[in-house]
Amino acid sequence: MKFSPEITAKPTKGFAEGVAERRKAGKEIYSFGLGEPDFKTPDYVIEAMMEAIEKGKIHYSDAQGIIELRTCIAKSATNEYGVKYEPNEIAVTPGIKSAAYSSLAAILEPGDKVALCTPCYVAYPAMIKCAEPDAEIITIDLNKDYSFNMERLEEVVTSGVKCLIVNSPNNPTGAMFTREEVERIVDVCAEHGVYILSDEVYDKIVFHGEKHVSFAEYEKIKDHLIIANGFSKSHAMTGWRLGYAIAPADICKKIAMLQFNTNTNVATFIQWAGCSIFEHEWDHIAEYTKILEERMAYFHEKINAIPKLSGILPKGGFFYCVNIEETGMTSNDFCAELVKQTGIATTPGIAFGKEWDGYVRFSLAVPLERIENGIALIEEFMKNNF
Ligand SMILES: Cc1ncc(COP(=O)(O)O)c(C=O)c1O
Repeated sequence: MKFSPEITAKPTKGFAEGVAERRKAGKEIYSFGLGEPDFKTPDYVIEAMMEAIEKGKIHYSDAQGIIELRTCIAKSATNEYGVKYEPNEIAVTPGIKSAAYSSLAAILEPGDKVALCTPCYVAYPAMIKCAEPDAEIITIDLNKDYSFNMERLEEVVTSGVKCLIVNSPNNPTGAMFTREEVERIVDVCAEHGVYILSDEVYDKIVFHGEKHVSFAEYEKIKDHLIIANGFSKSHAMTGWRLGYAIAPADICKKIAMLQFNTNTNVATFIQWAGCSIFEHEWDHIAEYTKILEERMAYFHEKINAIPKLSGILPKGGFFYCVNIEETGMTSNDFCAELVKQTGIATTPGIAFGKEWDGYVRFSLAVPLERIENGIALIEEFMKNNF
């Protein structure tokens, strides 16, 4: 396969070197980089997995996923979105990334154009190129207030785009589409026959009593809609690798074909453990979201009180983007200097899109005391350097 430059294990090279140097010198790192929940997988999921192993659920499964789990996901989607979904419209995948990647592989052909809403999750450009090395990536940047640039979408759909990739609540900004934005995107894409690949991994981690609006609520786009989701963030299961695509049956069949010929299936007992998620309330998410909301509010207030730094309060997810434009530094240089002087490891905005070099992403999936320490160090860093 052609390995295009987008396919890299380290989209943030310069900054990663700074972290390595500090580690080597035995100095502390305060990581605000990782997007992993700081709570544990619920016990009932662990127990269900152990039980599945004991019951011998250790053999190959259907490449599209066990029917029991696909039925749970289809029922839950039907209830949540008010649009009927069947188990053959679900494909179980090893994580959300895999759901997105294999859906792209199922629909893309050489020369196809893919519109990417940026700033975006770092893996999207690479997964587009893994799915179809000769695909062309066209970006649609969010406006500076994080609203969606509808004019740009209208411009790109008329240039023959096959698929639009969106992610709301968004990594890295925490921005969330309004219902009006979702509806207009649905209308434009339905009118031009454009697929929407909507990564809704943070759909349950939403703040201020707002509600996430799923693209799956709109029947008119159903035959051109792929939802990528899973349990990595909602149930602290990043290492379990359990996700799924909700998509038209023919796309799910192709995903199954891809899986059958590569990784065969998601570990069978992990799929069975996944069924237990639908037999329990998801109360822990409300508690965790409240904690995250408090961290966001604290961080937002403190960052905006520091001269030359600013940010917009996220509506969901784990991340906060700090605007560093007034420092005059590139995001790579800012992050490298920040980690060198303070040990705070963050992610440079350039990793999320070339127009986002004036930003630095902080993951707030870390305890509040850590965030308080971090803020004190950032205040000192800014005083010393600007
Ligand atoms: C938007 C987005 N999609 C997908 C993923 C990866 O999910 P998974 O670990 O289930 O592949 C992440 C992880 O940070 C993410 O932020």
